[in-house]
Amino acid sequence: MYTIILAGGSGTRLFPLSRTTYPKQFIPLLGNESLFQKSVKRALLHSKPEEIYIVTNEEHKYLVEDQLNQIDTECNILLEPCGKNTLPAITYAVTQIRKTNQTAPILVLPSDQLVDDGENYKNAVHTAELLTKEHLLIAFGIIPTSPHTGYGYILPGTPQGNGYKIGKFVEKPDLPTAEKYLREGYLWNSGMYCFSADTFMNELHKYAPEIAEAFTHPVPEAYEKTPKISIDYGLMEKTKKSAVVSLKATWSDMGSFDALYAVQEKDSQGNVVKGEYLTPDGQNNLIISDRLVATIGLSDIAVIDTTDALLVCPKNQSQHVGEITSLLKNAG
Ligand code: GDD
Ligand code: MG
Repeated sequence: MYTIILAGGSGTRLFPLSRTTYPKQFIPLLGNESLFQKSVKRALLHSKPEEIYIVTNEEHKYLVEDQLNQIDTECNILLEPCGKNTLPAITYAVTQIRKTNQTAPILVLPSDQLVDDGENYKNAVHTAELLTKEHLLIAFGIIPTSPHTGYGYILPGTPQGNGYKIGKFVEKPDLPTAEKYLREGYLWNSGMYCFSADTFMNELHKYAPEIAEAFTHPVPEAYEKTPKISIDYGLMEKTKKSAVVSLKATWSDMGSFDALYAVQEKDSQGNVVKGEYLTPDGQNNLIISDRLVATIGLSDIAVIDTTDALLVCPKNQSQHVGEITSLLKNAG
């Protein structure tokens, strides 16, 4: 099986750890390996190195090469002249893969997630791989735990193989809608996909013909011509040929500091500390700093200290950290 790894996003909600020059998927957030390196290792469970295609921004070429070297892996790297979101990135890789194989199953992996790759993961991927023969675009559904508005929502329909046809796919609904979906049995979309090159191109021609057309041109021109859109809005909300496979594995998209806090080991006061932290009373804090940090009377906060920027916020507001980067862009 082929694997496409999407590694071109910037992860603005992890500012200042994550910057446009050093996006979150490349940070060793937990232990020694970055989420990107973990994704490559996950890809290697199903694909040979030469069957893996990493799509990233030209700017991150050396970062990607370095991180692949560290885990002793060589795979194909496709460089985008600019980020046009996930649908063009996937189209770019699929057009390359199609040159050698039109029908082989392709797994698409985001590079910004933490996924337990045990038996449940392998079984879900295998189920999806079988379903690609039915000419479907297959998503992986996660049982939701909150009405998170940063995810896609999937309503499973009639059974199909060991999965379900997708009844409805809605990308990033507003809060009241997400709350309603939780009651109605929708799943979260994990952001992973599986399909054959042919099925993907057929659906692309139907629902995003301008992207299909753009990629008949050489890459720089294709990126000038293609609209900017994600696969979720551009294909999954529209296609009638889709299925969902349930992924019953520990999964976190590590999209914000509260998600990062949730998966880390805590000390007896519930604090997660990377560095040195002194407090008589602080509880449930996330502290990341190379300097000694001390707090008094502060609980449930995140302190993220880097050489050139410091972020302090209540942990439960960490969904809004991305707003800082738009302020920065405006200031620049
Ligand atoms: N190469 C490339 N180029 N990669 C990109 C680009 C791009 O222009 N934009 C984003 N990516 C990568 C990101 O690095 C990430 O690994 C993946 O594609 C998904 O993009 P995100 O921007 O992180 O998407 P999201 O988190 O808002 O939403 C997606 O994931 C959710 C689960 O985490 C959607 O698929 C949702 O439906 C899903 O619930
Ligand atoms: Mg994401």
